Amino acid sequence: MSNNKAIKGFSKFSKEAKIEWITNEYLDGDEQFIHLLKSYWHEDSKVQKIHDEFIENTITNFYIPFGVAPNFLINDKIYCIPMAIEESSVVAAASKNASFWMERGGFKSTVISTTKIGHVHFAWYGDFKILKDFVETIKSKFFKETEDLTRNMKKRGGGILEIDVINRSDLEPNYYQLQAKFETCDAMGANFINSLLEKFSKILERELQESNLSEKEKKITIIMCILSNYTPECIVKCEVNCKVDELSDDPKVDSNEFAKKFQQAIHVANIEPYRATTHNKGIFNGIDAVVIATGNDFRAVEACGHTYASKSGQYKSLTNVEIKNGQFKFWIEIPLAVGTVGGLTSLHPMVKFSHQLLGNPNAEKLMEIIAAAGLAQNFGALRSLVTTGIQKGHMKMHLLNILNQLGADKTEIELIKDHFKDKVVEHRAVVNLFNKIRGVEKENTIIKKN
Ligand code: MEV
Repeated sequence: MSNNKAIKGFSKFSKEAKIEWITNEYLDGDEQFIHLLKSYWHEDSKVQKIHDEFIENTITNFYIPFGVAPNFLINDKIYCIPMAIEESSVVAAASKNASFWMERGGFKSTVISTTKIGHVHFAWYGDFKILKDFVETIKSKFFKETEDLTRNMKKRGGGILEIDVINRSDLEPNYYQLQAKFETCDAMGANFINSLLEKFSKILERELQESNLSEKEKKITIIMCILSNYTPECIVKCEVNCKVDELSDDPKVDSNEFAKKFQQAIHVANIEPYRATTHNKGIFNGIDAVVIATGNDFRAVEACGHTYASKSGQYKSLTNVEIKNGQFKFWIEIPLAVGTVGGLTSLHPMVKFSHQLLGNPNAEKLMEIIAAAGLAQNFGALRSLVTTGIQKGHMKMHLLNILNQLGADKTEIELIKDHFKDKVVEHRAVVNLFNKIRGVEKENTIIKKN
């Protein structure tokens, strides 16, 4: 066995050779790791090849559970929403709260805008007025000279919406942007936008060079060309409402009290970033799970959502509530730049399945669905937090996880669940009771049934 943990040309190795190399160099040559990695390969080599080619240096697949949350009534249509997530309780909460709102008219989702944005960031040396006038005179060239790139998008109803030069020299001397807005229809549009921005930068450089401006004003340093994942003009709003009196389905919980506490909880998230972060994290439990299942970029969606939550200068809740004239209204307004064509959507078999399950929505419909998942999740979290507390639901899952680890059978699970229904689920106590049921005397011994 060699001991050379650094390597050149690793990407050129076959998958087997990569596995062998990391096993030898990092895992003491232990063959069980080779078996483990290979056991996660898909049995159909064609499907495996698709996964291999999504990224570089693929050695195996990493599973996360794929669940569904039925009973989502959104704009009068019932959806069964696919969710890819590893955290317990999220799918259960989505389903439970979807059913709750189905009985109260469901979710009303509206796409407000779908504009995407990108920038050529550059340094330039001169009076902004001259730059602005110059960009005005050459603006049509940005549209004309990119027609080969925009033709298909135009046919679908999209394309470049506007181009402006922005003065950011207040942030940094000589810093300017060519800012472009786009409609990318059902595509997330990253490649489309980035290709256009790079072309714009070339046009701008060339036109400045060939202009009658002074030598100083002809000089430009292109810093970078990139879309912005912050899309405050690609917004969806989703709302639920009901009479305050109909808010509680639990005889032990008074609807009015609940509504008031719920409102306080939102208020706390609006004034206290420590809480707002957790509050919004819960929203993204729902949103990310659908974003992942539908093959979209959850890092982009999250980054954008958090920036939007800070748009006032303070990080706040993405959801809001209003209690007026006996009516409870709860809504989310969030930017969601997602696509239903391109990227993983036509490649990943499970992503294709998710789209089919949702009735092959277009991007706007998908925005409406994802917003509802986020809103349901937040309602569920706040409902638990201001009534029973969050641990009650979590403890149920925690108990089940421990029992599964122990290999408990159905009867044992029922007995132990019943025992812990009014007690704190503590790992050692569960193991001890489990051992007792199995007739094992020694405390804390975990035994597994074959
Ligand atoms: C846990 O993943 C999410 C919650 O913490 C969200 C919240 O506190 O609102 C329950």
